[in-house]
Amino acid sequence: MRTIPFGKPIFGDEERRAVAEVLEGTTLVHGPRVKQFEADFAAFTGAPHALSVASCTAGLHLALFDLGIGPGDEVIVPAQTHVATAHSVEFTGAASVFADAEPRTGNIDLEQVEAAVTGNTRAIAVVHYLGLPVDMDGINAIARKHDLFVLEDCALAIGTYYKGTHAGLCGDAGCYSFYPVKHMTTAEGGMVITKHDDVAARLDKKRAFGVDRVVGTRKMPGIYDVTMLGYNYRMNELEGALGCAQLARVPGFLEARNRNYAALEKGLAEIDEIDLFWSGDADYVSSRYCLSMILADALADRRADLVNALKAEGVGTSVYYPKPVPHMTYYAEKYGHGPESFPVAARISYQGIALPVGPHLDEQDMDYIVNAVKKALHEVKHG
Ligand SMILES: Cc1ncc(COP(=O)(O)O)c(C=O)c1O
Repeated sequence: MRTIPFGKPIFGDEERRAVAEVLEGTTLVHGPRVKQFEADFAAFTGAPHALSVASCTAGLHLALFDLGIGPGDEVIVPAQTHVATAHSVEFTGAASVFADAEPRTGNIDLEQVEAAVTGNTRAIAVVHYLGLPVDMDGINAIARKHDLFVLEDCALAIGTYYKGTHAGLCGDAGCYSFYPVKHMTTAEGGMVITKHDDVAARLDKKRAFGVDRVVGTRKMPGIYDVTMLGYNYRMNELEGALGCAQLARVPGFLEARNRNYAALEKGLAEIDEIDLFWSGDADYVSSRYCLSMILADALADRRADLVNALKAEGVGTSVYYPKPVPHMTYYAEKYGHGPESFPVAARISYQGIALPVGPHLDEQDMDYIVNAVKKALHEVKHG
């Protein structure tokens, strides 16, 4: 039997050496590794500006905080996303207004976005669900019409391209996550990219207390002024060093993800009891975060049995995401969303099983997963 974990960070001598070098010195923040990681990330994505932050959530919050929104304002958020996308709105005091997903991709439904716009709407947040890009021309058209900021949650989108542009550069700002199961990791960490000089200049200050001069640019050590409110959302040098080493591996990681995804998709395509999402084309290039299969309605209440059967075969799975965000208790109670609301996101959340395609696996693992899925379905259906 094989053991196939859902996600597994891949480290080698480069990562170990990079972190050890930081520990040989005394510069743990405000150092060259974080700067280098930002430059490398900007080069990889083609971003004019890349600003490292403590996490994707910190980056999302920072971008919305910078808009100056608060109570009385509204931000449109996908129902089908990680809670971080909505939490970052809530931190500002603005209200999260949810839009359901479209069934073909799991991405935010543009008609619902348009319908959700009111005179109080200030921004649209989108997530490139499982790495498949959102129709950003459509989102930008709505945003232009109503003068809205567009925030891209790119937590799963390193290697996602919409019409040739890397995710995060189609809207006004994009935020990345380097949490361990993501495309690359710095343990915890994130990055904000933007094409706007003014946004970058403000976020640079607001991620570090709003001080006017960071360490290294001060005329006299310890002397600075504070010109605006800011958080401590910085990335540290250990994370920056890891980031440089990991980013160098990303092209190889993406190749492996593509290969694995294609093999898994082909193997699962003929199975009647599951639906697969559209996998993209030249204009919609997915980063292939994972492959989520959606169980047919007749098997909806057998998901736990299937997950257990796969586990018994050594196949690790996950769920993206466990509930539509508006069904999470905090949001359901605050905004009064019932269990029947957001039915498309609900079907994806409650009937989905996410299978791994990461670079820790190869095509033989994918064949193994396909057979394990077939076997598990057979067992569940025929006892
Ligand atoms: C879509 C999405 N946004 C944001 C986050 C949060 O990222 P972080 O842990 O870096 O704050 C996640 C984490 O899984 C995510 O999936």
